[in-house]
Amino acid sequence: MRTESSKEGSERFIVTIIRKDAALVARLRKGLLDWYDGQGRDLAWRRGERDPYRVWLSEVMLQQTTVPHATPYYEKFLSLWPTVRDLAAADDARVMAEWAGLGYYARARRLLECARAVVREHGGEFPRSEAELLALPGFGPYTAAAVAAIAFGEAANVVDGNVERVMTRLYAIETPLPAGRAAVRDVAAQWIAAERSGDWPQALMDLASLICRPRAPQCLLCPLAEACEARPLGDPERFPVKLAKPPKPRRFGTAYILRLGEAIIVEQRPDKGLLGGMLGLPHSEWREKPDEARPPLDGDWRDLGAYQHVFTHFALTQNVRLRDVTQAEADELLRARNDWRWLPLTEARSLPTVFAKALTLMKP
Ligand code: ADE
Repeated sequence: MRTESSKEGSERFIVTIIRKDAALVARLRKGLLDWYDGQGRDLAWRRGERDPYRVWLSEVMLQQTTVPHATPYYEKFLSLWPTVRDLAAADDARVMAEWAGLGYYARARRLLECARAVVREHGGEFPRSEAELLALPGFGPYTAAAVAAIAFGEAANVVDGNVERVMTRLYAIETPLPAGRAAVRDVAAQWIAAERSGDWPQALMDLASLICRPRAPQCLLCPLAEACEARPLGDPERFPVKLAKPPKPRRFGTAYILRLGEAIIVEQRPDKGLLGGMLGLPHSEWREKPDEARPPLDGDWRDLGAYQHVFTHFALTQNVRLRDVTQAEADELLRARNDWRWLPLTEARSLPTVFAKALTLMKP
């Protein structure tokens, strides 16, 4: 038995976590792996050989989005850049354009930096240990543990949001996250073993996705139910306990669609800062108060309405205005701004979601 004490803001949480019997853990671990063999998901990155490049690529993509959303991106990246050497040699702008829609664009830049570091410093082979992986650009504790376990079979403690949900329920951990993370890592470590160390985290993830779901968990079907402490408490959904988040600050702005036929003007955003290195629509500064901004060109603008977009640090209300431009007007704009260029509307998917949303307002 161990008492967990942690501080979150001004509140102190003292929680008792009872470790589980080793024989029970060994039996249920096998039970979950058997369940995974029969019921686990057939996912793109699990097919074929365990290639560290594929494991890494899938894990980076899955850190920010769901399996169904990430899968087509994963497949497209692999078809364009089948090996880490191919990705390292890729054109930066092409990679950023292909990443559009996945979000967290700094991660795409880290992805390229990492591919290049693997080629430059490791002869094109990912290092095998968690510690060496952690030293690569863009690798945090989660990615290092996931690649070490899944690609190289290291008995690493892989803890993501899915594993957090399963573990906080199994042990009825009352300490809210993020303060409870140390306790989660600690109990998750009890289940780590050398045998099938790459399958174990993936079995937990599938359990979290199919059975131990955020809402309406399917406890009757759960291979770990016998050891679950949240279930007899009657409300497993209550775990993981989270502190209410303060609302995000709101900002306001206007995006401008300058259109000529089937093409629009886009800007190449600077490498640093929000959406760095991505394409974007010209837009007013995103400010705390709505205000009238001056459009990039005088004349007849059509208001298309507004939409919401949530970033990590703020929520944006964006108005959208459209203007059909003449060739002469466009030539003048493009002469004045060397970071602006044409984008055919057929390539709109290379815009990040916050701007792709604006284009949907153009539809009749
Ligand atoms: N989420 C993050 N990594 C995953 C994986 N390897 N399989 C399924 N879901 C995941």
